[in-house]
Amino acid sequence: MRKELGVLPYGRQSIDNSDVLAVTRALRSLFLTQGPFVEEFEQALCMYTGAKYCVAVSNGTAALHLAVAALGLKKGSSGVTSPITFLASANALVYNGISPFFADIDPATINMSLAALIRAIRKNTRVIIPVHFAGRPAAMKEISAFAARKKCFVIEDAAHAIGSCYPDGSRVGNCAFSDMTIFSFHPVKTITTGEGGAIMTNDKKIYDRLRSLRSHGVVRDPALMTDNPGPWYHEMQELGFNYRLTDIQAALGLSQLKKIDSFVVRRREIVARYNMAFKSIPWLRSVASDDKLCAYHLYVVLVDFKKLGISRREFMGRLAAFGVGTQVHYIPVYRQPFYTRNFKISGKGFPQAERYYEGCISLPLFPAMKDKDIRKVITAVIGFSKDVL
Ligand SMILES: Cc1ncc(COP(=O)(O)O)c(C=O)c1O
Repeated sequence: MRKELGVLPYGRQSIDNSDVLAVTRALRSLFLTQGPFVEEFEQALCMYTGAKYCVAVSNGTAALHLAVAALGLKKGSSGVTSPITFLASANALVYNGISPFFADIDPATINMSLAALIRAIRKNTRVIIPVHFAGRPAAMKEISAFAARKKCFVIEDAAHAIGSCYPDGSRVGNCAFSDMTIFSFHPVKTITTGEGGAIMTNDKKIYDRLRSLRSHGVVRDPALMTDNPGPWYHEMQELGFNYRLTDIQAALGLSQLKKIDSFVVRRREIVARYNMAFKSIPWLRSVASDDKLCAYHLYVVLVDFKKLGISRREFMGRLAAFGVGTQVHYIPVYRQPFYTRNFKISGKGFPQAERYYEGCISLPLFPAMKDKDIRKVITAVIGFSKDVL
């Protein structure tokens, strides 16, 4: 058995015996790569979210790549996403030859602001990718109405948000406000398959195209082929990829999905404990409201390092020495050299993202945290207050 590291990470999977048994069952079955467990996992995700169709893929990045590809946009079109996200939300546009633009965030939610989206839209914008940052859904009703007026597609990047609900109580992933919604099942996410992702949609045409793109652009359904000379026959109708999920991973996903409600409850409990403990610290503000509809993926605090009198590097270093791991989610995507160099975007148009980036720190948040782990984080953070007195 590998030794556990002493530092609490900002996020980590929760695996128990039932997961191990599920994976063992898959390993002993006839299929290792895409097979019946993948189909079962897709159906379970449809049942859970309320979407009609699901295509499970090898990771969340592949899900975004295929989601944009399935729209069949003309090269030279453009797309808009949030700058405070993981690189993949913007990279998915670039993979498909779509120019990336960013809409500044709303400082209250850290999601794309509607006013900034309106400013970011160009004549050739065809797709909008809102990101449900840290699990909190973006303003989908408003974004979806605006996108319809501008004849844009909408893909929700819900990599952080499986288990969250919209204000009307319906589940993220039902695609009531979008053409597609993607999930990631990376180990730090709410449920995991190791690596893995999924695309949800209510559109049968998009669904058929996603299934074909996931597997080399090959079509096997006789209704979709130009010929049908025999059972061996299949057609590669466009250039696709191998983005399949394995049955081993899907078996883990099915087992994890059964436990999602308890994972979400524990995440909310930890957030409530942190919020209560930190509410009167003058140099810190929690980004997480106590929201009963949110399946919190990250616990981000904004630290006023000037007031505190130390740098972020020192803050993170001292927490790590205390056994508390932290991370920065995220460096604004337009600051990455690839984006600065190729798309000539500067921070000037994004005052809120810049301000947010100056102070953001993610503290440990995962369901397997013990109460003593929560206390340890709280003690470590509160300990800095002595420095300001
Ligand atoms: C917002 C967001 N989108 C997309 C992804 C990509 O998911 P994956 O790591 O499964 O490729 C991530 C992963 O961290 C993410 O946080």
